Amino acid sequence: MQYLLGIDVGTSGSKALLIDTQGAVKASANTEYALQTPHPLWAEQDPSDWWQATIKSIRQLMALGKIRAEQVIGIGLTGQMHGLVLLDAQGNPLRPCIMWNDQRTAAQCASITEKVGLDQVLQLTGNPILPGFTAPKIAWVRQYEPELYAKTAKVLLPKDYVRYRLTNSFFTEVSDASGTSLLNVGQRRWSDEMLKALDIPRQWLPEVTESPEVSAHLSAEAAAELGLLAGTPIVGGGGDQAAQAIGTGIIKEGVVSATLGTSGVVFAASSSYRVDPQGRLHAFCHAVPGMWHLMGVTLSAAGSFRWYRDTLGQSEITQAAQSGRDPYDLLTEEASSVPAGSEGLLFLPYLSGERTPYPDPDARGVFFGLTLRHGKAHMTRAVMEGISYAMRDSLELMRQLGLTIDQVRASGGGSRSPMWRQMLADVFDSEIVTVNVSQGAAYGAALLAGVGAGVFPDVISAAETAVSTANRSQPGADAAIYADFHPRYQALYPALAPEFKAIARIVEKHLK
Ligand code: XUL
Repeated sequence: MQYLLGIDVGTSGSKALLIDTQGAVKASANTEYALQTPHPLWAEQDPSDWWQATIKSIRQLMALGKIRAEQVIGIGLTGQMHGLVLLDAQGNPLRPCIMWNDQRTAAQCASITEKVGLDQVLQLTGNPILPGFTAPKIAWVRQYEPELYAKTAKVLLPKDYVRYRLTNSFFTEVSDASGTSLLNVGQRRWSDEMLKALDIPRQWLPEVTESPEVSAHLSAEAAAELGLLAGTPIVGGGGDQAAQAIGTGIIKEGVVSATLGTSGVVFAASSSYRVDPQGRLHAFCHAVPGMWHLMGVTLSAAGSFRWYRDTLGQSEITQAAQSGRDPYDLLTEEASSVPAGSEGLLFLPYLSGERTPYPDPDARGVFFGLTLRHGKAHMTRAVMEGISYAMRDSLELMRQLGLTIDQVRASGGGSRSPMWRQMLADVFDSEIVTVNVSQGAAYGAALLAGVGAGVFPDVISAAETAVSTANRSQPGADAAIYADFHPRYQALYPALAPEFKAIARIVEKHLK
């Protein structure tokens, strides 16, 4: 039997996953690592922790699956995007990685945007310059750590640092490179204009390939350490969102995914380079050569429901503990007892600010429209509906860019509930299905490895071989009710935005 290895250098740990050439999962192993926040808004990780964790996960995986080195015929990498890894001329990290969720670079984002011009930034890179992205972090290091900046020889993304440790060579691929603000996303190559504007030497950047291309081979040294074969091909792989999309079959226009995790991600494949003129959706290269993807992020999706369970769902938690049931199931059952639209009660899920369509850290959660008639069940239902409306906002932006949406593939904790899936079908006015795989980005990376190793002719056939759908829900009678309420939901943020700001400033003032 031959196997494909996917490695996910994630935010909380490094996961290694083995699949066979039909896409069946053989084994997986995960090794966690820490995240440091040396200052408020900062998030850093030590690149050598990723490497040590990856070694551990792979060795564990090989032992667990009783796999011989020669049975692993291809490796694919994925991981947290946007992180800045700086190496010196000897290939040693100069400082901890500044991660995707680090928020220190607001000033650098503003000055780069001013220098290049927002329209030009959007046209070249598909996105506004955001604090999480890589380029403003380089500018931050130049400003605040000039002695390290002067020693910089290479700039890498997290998974590409692990690739360097595996192969001694410097490569990235288009999907992850799209989150740097340095890639010409339409042309799938580094942007000379952005590099020039930022005064970043081209030789600092790795070569950029397409995601299923074999970029390098496992070195003898790494092979010995990992129990794998020297020379094993390593494909480009993908940023975590693009790789996850390969693993759920989001490989053609019309099929979209909605992931109901802590945050909610709506992800659509696009056969042309489409950019939201206001930069509200991310536009990145897809891991399918010749395709792009659009992405919207609701920061607190299932995270809002968890907050609700933990604050107002105490009785359900107690009841669930007594009856051996899941508190979410009890809450969802209660929510089913009130009509769609929660009799006019609306909930805005902006509990940790918002990203799409309102990039506003000051946005806040709101219950709107309470009356004496409303009880707990209404509030529960309104929370679920509010999260669904927020994700519909991303779908709407995609529709406005000319995408037709035929099917939405739901995944993440929230998609386990049949009631919530039906609500999504009604709110999105689209068919909802689930998929047979739930191994996340590592699974997509392993499929990409299969393309590079010649197991599958291309990424589309790899995904079609491995991914199947189930649990179909079609829009029903409630769709008309949600169609009436959604514009009212949409009217609330613009009406409240000045108050969110004013209140945030008052809270800041009195906290000091
Ligand atoms: C993508 C994004 C996250 C990170 C961490 O734009 O910010 O998916 O890659 O998972």
